Amino acid sequence: MKKTIAVIFGGKSPEHEVSIESAKTVCAKLEAAGFRALPFYAPREGAWRLVKLADLAAGRALKGPELEPSLARGCFLKKGGGTVRPHALFPIIHGSTGEDGVLQGLMELLGIPYAGCGVTASAVGMDKIISKELAALDGVPVLPHVAVRAHQRAAMGPLLKKAEKLGFPLFVKPVAQGSSVGVTKVKKPAQLRPAVENAFRFDTAVMIEKGVDRAREIVCGVLGSQDGAKASVCGEVVPQGGHEFYDYEAKYLDDNGMRLDLPARLPKATSERLRETAVKVFLALGGSGLARVDFFVDPKDDRKFYFCEINTLPGFTSHSLYPRLWERTGLKPEKVLKELVAIAERAAARRRRLTIARK
Ligand SMILES: Nc1ncnc2c1ncn2[C@@H]1O[C@H](COP(=O)(O)OP(=O)(O)O)[C@@H](O)[C@H]1O
Ligand SMILES: [Mg+2]
Repeated sequence: MKKTIAVIFGGKSPEHEVSIESAKTVCAKLEAAGFRALPFYAPREGAWRLVKLADLAAGRALKGPELEPSLARGCFLKKGGGTVRPHALFPIIHGSTGEDGVLQGLMELLGIPYAGCGVTASAVGMDKIISKELAALDGVPVLPHVAVRAHQRAAMGPLLKKAEKLGFPLFVKPVAQGSSVGVTKVKKPAQLRPAVENAFRFDTAVMIEKGVDRAREIVCGVLGSQDGAKASVCGEVVPQGGHEFYDYEAKYLDDNGMRLDLPARLPKATSERLRETAVKVFLALGGSGLARVDFFVDPKDDRKFYFCEINTLPGFTSHSLYPRLWERTGLKPEKVLKELVAIAERAAARRRRLTIARK
């Protein structure tokens, strides 16, 4: 009997469409790896649905019976009768409510093994301030920043002054968003307050970070668990076509918005340090399963690099960075997914043992 893996996709974030594309690849590759993929579609509003693999693959309307998670029974109830009890869950909802611990909490309550980071690592990974502070505690280089929290918004003058002292350019960003939504490159003092106010449209806390002018952006895939994790080769994302940084347009609207150099053109010593640091960040944050760790490298001196962010549910479309990084490292997507399911099962078994030990 094939193991059934429910691939949960869609979600409420701006990356809804990307998630659908990721699910197409994840389902196809899980099937290629010998599993039975069950596509669970989470629309922007309303109940999840068990949709047809063929409809997802062909880009047709996603229809099917509604699903209701049953915490009491640890399964999903199908509207109209019947239950679905997958061997494991594979969430591939990017951004808020999918990647930030919310969905992970539900899966935890259901008691079904699930791929990827747990509640804490997901929540910490989503928060740009907390993740950087935790990484820095472990000696990972990060850029200096000033945080503006909701309660400081009305009287943020002194914080803006403090941020200006870091020197320009500054990058202003919502603390827990993604896809460069609400991110502004600020080049002079007069632009700072409007940029912070703009970022507050998307979040309750804002980070003002020292910018690395024309930073090189290096990405690295991590796969594993707290028992041991490995890093893929590094890749370099090069914004193209007049985008001054890797903004929302370059990511999603401009087909030629970026180029990926794979592997990144870096001296071996630098890429080795970045790979080690990627694993270090993953472990420091309590990661499990997968993550993509992004860095800034000083364009004038590649020995100077800084941790930018961790994505705990990175894109998994056919042209996404994460699967491409692993493919270049010699691991096909089927293999990556197989490892992720095995890690999920081990993590669930461990949690069960810990719960029993506490009784
Ligand atoms: N401190 C910085 N120095 C240089 N570029 C930055 C800095 N912070 C952000 N950027 C630019 O903005 C983009 C988005 O910022 P990032 O922190 O990765 O947030 P997101 O989660 O939205 O991807 C980066 O890919 C990079 O192009
Ligand atoms: Mg980013």
